[in-house]
Parts: sequence; C-alpha cells; structure tokens
Amino acid sequence: MSPKKSKKSTDTVTITDNSTGKSIELPIRRGTEGPSVFDIGKLAQTLGLYTFDPGFRSTASCSSAITLIDGEGGRLTYRGYSIEELAENSTYLEVCYLLWYGDLPTKQQLQEFTRTITYHTMVHEGLRDFYKGFRRDAHPMAIMVGVVGALSAFYHDDIDFSEQHSRNIAAHRLISKMPTIAAWAYRYSQGEPFPYPRNDLTYAENFLHLMFSYPTEPYQVNPVAAKAMDLLFLLHADHGQNASASTIRLAGSSQANPFACVSASVGTLWGPAHGGANEAVISMLEAIGSVDRIDMFLERAKDKSDPFRLMGFGHRVYKAYDPRATLIRKVCNDVLRELEVDDPLFDIAQELEERALNDDYFKSRNLFPNVDFYSGIILRAIGIPTNMFTVIFTIGRTIGWISQWNEMMQDQGMRIGRPRQLYVGRQHCTYQPIDKRSNEETQSK
Ligand code: SDX
Repeated sequence: MSPKKSKKSTDTVTITDNSTGKSIELPIRRGTEGPSVFDIGKLAQTLGLYTFDPGFRSTASCSSAITLIDGEGGRLTYRGYSIEELAENSTYLEVCYLLWYGDLPTKQQLQEFTRTITYHTMVHEGLRDFYKGFRRDAHPMAIMVGVVGALSAFYHDDIDFSEQHSRNIAAHRLISKMPTIAAWAYRYSQGEPFPYPRNDLTYAENFLHLMFSYPTEPYQVNPVAAKAMDLLFLLHADHGQNASASTIRLAGSSQANPFACVSASVGTLWGPAHGGANEAVISMLEAIGSVDRIDMFLERAKDKSDPFRLMGFGHRVYKAYDPRATLIRKVCNDVLRELEVDDPLFDIAQELEERALNDDYFKSRNLFPNVDFYSGIILRAIGIPTNMFTVIFTIGRTIGWISQWNEMMQDQGMRIGRPRQLYVGRQHCTYQPIDKRSNEETQSK
C-alpha cells in the first residue's frame, strides 16, 4: 500500500524546485479582507531561491491595518470607514486623527487635536531663509523636497523616535507645518511676502489664506473653495502601499529621521507615474485643446511606439473606477457651478473619459480614471497654479506617509528593508592598465 500522503494543509503553498526536487511548504496568511499572502520568509534558507518581482506586482511588503483598497470592487476604506462616508461626514483633520490613532475621535479628542495642529503651524524663522537659495522658477516640488528635508535639521538630536510620544509630536509638526511650507513655496515663486498662519481659521481656510492673502488688505476665505480644499486633502490622505508610502517604509526601516523620510516620499510622489499625474493631466487636456482632437490622443495612448499615456487613467490596484475619482468628479460640478467658473478642460476631460471607457483597449485593460484625473479641474477653479497640484497632493498625503511609518515603527518584528537581486552582470574580469584599454573593447562590453 503506498505510504499515506500527508494531507497537505489548506493553509499552505508548496514550492518545489524541480532542478533539485527539494520542496517547502509556506504558510498562507489571510487578512481581515483583501488578497491573502503566502509567507516566503523561509524560502531562501530552505531552497536557496529568492522571489523576483520588480514593481511588486505580486508582492505584499507588509501587513497593515490602515487602508484597504478593493481593486476589483473599486472600494477604499480608512481604518474600516468607507471613503464615501468620510467624504460626506468628516473633515481632513478628523481623518488625520483616524489614520494616526486608529479610530474616530470623541468631540473632546478632536478639539484637543485641532488645537494642537493649529498651534504648530508656524515654522522656525530660520526655515524662511532656505527658500532664498532656490531660483524663482524652481518647481515647487523641488522646494518641498528641500525644505521638508531641512526640518530634520531642526528636529533631531533631542528626540527618540522609538518612543511613541516623540512620533506623535513629529506627526503633529508635519501635519501642521506642511500647508505653511507648501504655500510659502508658491509665494516665493511669485516674489511675494510669506504670510503667517492664522489660528482663527480651519486647516483648509488657513492654507488658502497662506496662498492668497496680502498684508495690505483683509483676506476673505471663499467657503466653497475651503470646503473643496478640505475634501481634496481628505481624499488624498492615504492609499496603502503606493510608491511614496513604500518609500517611507523603506527609508524609515533604517531608523532615519522621519522628516528626512517624508522628504524622500515627497520626491517619489513627484513622478508623473504617481502624484505628478495631476499636473500632467492638465498639460494633457491643454494639449488636446478641443473635443475633436480627443480621438487622435486616444490612438496615441494605445500606440506602443508612442510614449504618450493617458494621464490620470489606469491604476496598479484599481481595476474598477477609483472611488476618489467618482467623488472628485462630483465636486468638480459643484465647485464650477458655485464659483461660476466655466472650464473647457472639464468638458474635454468628461468627453475623454466617455470615449476611453467605451474603447476596447482601455476596457480590456480595466483602465479607468484615477484620483488624478479630475482633481486639477477643481484646483484650477480655486486658483491654484498647475505646478502646485502635486504639492496639494503632498499636503494631503503627509498623514498617510507618517501613519504608515508609525505602524512600521510600532512593529516589534520590524527590520531594515534590504531586497536582494538577480545578478546579470559580467564575471571574472581582469584589471587592464589604462594604456592597454581600447574604446571599442570597452564599449562592446
Ligand atoms: C497615483 O499606487 C497608488 O495607490 C497610487 C495613487 C495613490 O493614491 O497613492 O493612487 C496615486 O499615483 C495614481 C496613478 C497616477 N498615474 C497616472 O495617472 C499615470 C498614467 N497611468 C499609468 O502610467 C499606469 O496606469 C500606472 C502607472 C498608474 C499603473 O501602471 P501599471 O500598474 O504598471 O500598469 P501597466 O503599465 O503594466 O499597464 C498595463 C497595461 C499596459 O498595456 P499592455 O502592456 O497590457 O499592452 O495598460 C496600459 C499599459 O501600456 N496602460 C495604459 C495606461 N495605463 C496603463 N495605456 C495608456 N494610458 C494609460 N494611462
């Protein structure tokens, strides 16, 4: 009788290296929702093999309780609360509390948190001087990378970030100071004075004051603009293990100063494949220029030999409509109507969406509008210049980055992130004296 095959647990995956016949059973770990994972921690030491997954298409880098993205269903939750309910009922600062502390605050907790953030909005006077080193035409994201990183020069030696209390203070400082730093990047580019924050304004109102007020006259915040601004910050607050969140997890795993780590995430977000897409969408819509030119650009987006991509479309995780885009598109209508702005780019964007969603190329690849497709329309209506769009994304996403960092720092099993590689380079090269080297030989290698 054949030996009774050990019943394979249903909670494991067996990997067999057919070149050696060696196998390993790897445990499957199931979360509260979303895709399960199998833990490959013992793979290398058992089979001597490493996984290979550039771009992390099939790889989970961590476990997290912060944000869930249901890519198939087009759902997004922050700490279990749906983005639709939060957009309808909450505010950006309440969502900051939710993401950082793990649940919605009581009235008193929110009042205390709001007061803390309000009273940290000023920055060290020395930080003002950092702007003077930039050219007036520097991209505001370049200024953000530099000035946010510079915060690490003001907050480091007397703080132990392994302590939760110190991490809370760092979070409060980053949430409160980002609008000030961001608005000053814009004011610097305009050669205008840097306003001081006002404690009598809400978070979004204060940002608009910092962006558009003048010392020569009282500034009246437009409530429609402030409400839209607050919602955009809220909708951009976090999004799981996106590229810039993965950046802060990797940077923070070396125990680096969190302000320096946030600066690294700012740099990652800037790319047009990531947060820089909101600025690129407007450039694309302006290049299209009119509805009758849409088909030409759709053809270019489908042409593999053409580097042009439909900016604001597609997503690594969403294979359905990005729920944030649904909410932002609705706000577009409201804001344009209430501010009495008629933006032809909005008409082009809606027609472009309609045609793309009915085109087999986009349908077959589950390409839908993402968070960046309509956000720029709102920002234009409010008067935010295009090169500040990713800076707005930065302000909103700061809480997401530091919440991901905090979750990692709280993990007792956390260790420095250090991926391996598949080496495909040369071997056994012998050093040649420089007079023995020939250009052809070198270039042929
Ligand atoms: C954000 O990760 C996050 O959560 C990010 C974010 C967040 O909140 O943090 O949601 C914010 O970054 C949103 C994405 C913003 N970027 C853009 O809008 C730029 C345009 N989009 C693409 O570059 C692309 O869709 C990505 C980068 C968003 C996703 O790229 P993937 O997952 O690597 O997908 P892919 O390039 O492998 O595309 C799969 C197919 C390819 O065609 P085939 O090889 O199958 O023939 O779809 C095509 C791609 O060529 N494709 C597009 C396209 N996006 C994908 N074709 C035309 N236009 C596009 N926009």
